[in-house]
Amino acid sequence: MTYRIAPSILSADFSRLGQEVRDVIAAGSDWIHFDVMDNHYVPNLTFGPMVCAALKPHARTPSGEAVPIDVHLMVQPVDALAAAFADAGADLISFHPDASAHVHRSIQAIRAKGCKAGLVFNPAQPLDVLDWVIEDIDLILIMSVNPGFGGQGFIDSALRKVEAARRRIQASGKDIRLEVDGGIKVDNIRRVADAGADTFVAGSAIFGRPDYRAVIDAMRAALAPAAG
Ligand code: DX5
Ligand code: ZN
Repeated sequence: MTYRIAPSILSADFSRLGQEVRDVIAAGSDWIHFDVMDNHYVPNLTFGPMVCAALKPHARTPSGEAVPIDVHLMVQPVDALAAAFADAGADLISFHPDASAHVHRSIQAIRAKGCKAGLVFNPAQPLDVLDWVIEDIDLILIMSVNPGFGGQGFIDSALRKVEAARRRIQASGKDIRLEVDGGIKVDNIRRVADAGADTFVAGSAIFGRPDYRAVIDAMRAALAPAAG
């Protein structure tokens, strides 16, 4: 299993985002998680495609390798902003199916732009829509907090949902990443992985500490087989 750690810049210092992106990549991030909130679908407001475009050149390792930008859209409606983020350099774009009137169309629109497409499930949202679209997506994102804010506590029922999503991925035979978002820390990441997740968003756990590398290294150590 290749695990990926995706720091959420929601908890970064917004006055110096470019440097924060470079620093957290230098500390070992696999992806950069970009939380887009519209004060409509969720009661908070963050950043739009212009900020994504501005950060794109910073999303590189010190040796120049591109690091994927993982856009998590908490917006309603979805399609126009998804297209704008594709143009702004997003590599993966995920949206909440309950925020789109036409989920299949939104997925196709994201893929037509050359991006990977993901579906995001809130804590009380069932996975049923996957019956019809799992063949068409690249990523499932399970929310382990209610979307809108960083720094909330992990909701345990997300573990059962991760297990259910992993079963669906296995049954599909497709190469689909299973990401979990919200309340992930060094001391619970292993449980989330054991439930079947392979990609971990972490905002406050990483940006809330002065040494990003120490946190990311501790997460990887917790994920290493010996730690199980
Ligand atoms: C919440 C966001 C998360 C958030 C996670 O709506 O989707 O990505 O940044 O933050 P932590 O890791 O602090 O729970
Ligand atoms: Zn997120």
